[in-house]
Amino acid sequence: MLKLNTMEEKLNKIKTDYFLNINQAKTLKELDELFLALFGKNGVITLLPKEFGKLPMEELQKIGPLFNQTKHELDNAIENRRQAVREESYAKLTTEKYDLGTAEIKPRHGHLHPTTQFIQETVDLFEKLGFQQFDAPQIDTDEYNFGLLNIPEGHPARDLWDTLYIDPQKTGYSPGELLLRTHTSNAQVRIMRDFTPPIRMMSIGRCYRYENLDARHEHTFEQFELVYIDKGVSMTNLQYLSEYFLQNTVGKDIKVRLRPKYYPFVEPGVGIDGLCIFCHGQGCKVCGGTGWLEVAGAGMIHPTVLKNGGINPEIYSGIAWGPGVGRIMMLKYGFDDIRELLKGDLKFLEKF
Ligand code: PHE
Repeated sequence: MLKLNTMEEKLNKIKTDYFLNINQAKTLKELDELFLALFGKNGVITLLPKEFGKLPMEELQKIGPLFNQTKHELDNAIENRRQAVREESYAKLTTEKYDLGTAEIKPRHGHLHPTTQFIQETVDLFEKLGFQQFDAPQIDTDEYNFGLLNIPEGHPARDLWDTLYIDPQKTGYSPGELLLRTHTSNAQVRIMRDFTPPIRMMSIGRCYRYENLDARHEHTFEQFELVYIDKGVSMTNLQYLSEYFLQNTVGKDIKVRLRPKYYPFVEPGVGIDGLCIFCHGQGCKVCGGTGWLEVAGAGMIHPTVLKNGGINPEIYSGIAWGPGVGRIMMLKYGFDDIRELLKGDLKFLEKF
């Protein structure tokens, strides 16, 4: 049979040991640890009552209050010490003088994502020519993404864009009405409606397509749209802007070609290609065997689209120009898979 004085001794030992530790604790963390050692799931105070069952009834009646009192005292001691530690550190903070002059400044690691850097460079380039930034929504209606751009519902040109539509049940919109924009051209009519010519605007941002992914195609990508409307704007301006852009980003010796291409919202429309730097025109996996990498779609804004934007096509003409940021970065930096840009692979990113 366990003796009362043995239990009493045990309790006193816990008390003296822990009081000492509590009063010597210098940080709140140490006090938290002591609290857990006493009152946590396997704390000494938590487990002690398990042994009480071995005591005879009358002794149990004596040890009970003693136990409770000790528990209370330890708990109080921790709380009082916590308060003291807080006060000490506050006093230290207000009296101690810091010499900020000698603080070590650690070297910074990392940098902005290459796409962000490239976008900033591009914006700077076109600001120099008087273009201003314009923001259009990434979740948009099919009206701005297609309808107002001369691509009515059922028009076969809609098949050019593999569109991600937003579930109508979740939005209250009708089926096919709300989508993730497939191109930054959704900014075109908004720009025309918000400003009067002469207009020099650029809109840059994320676009989304339900794509078959490969080295040149990504489902989420950045596009850059230029809208330039004034009296007498012509294809010559478009040629100039394409060369200005590619020579200043990719390099002076980049070879550029313009080839006829159909987009319903421009007439005439062109595809702008850069000579594939991986095969130098021979044809390879990256350029799909053509020797050229398409970097932009562009053209003279269709009169119907100008009208939709409230601009008189008898007086004004305009160009719209939409390069894919990732494609141009591939040419500039010489990487052969556009999917690298979203992977977040540090080995790839540290090269920039
Ligand atoms: N928006 C077109 C695309 O995503 C590119 C384009 C922009 C074409 C402007 C013509 C004019 O493919």
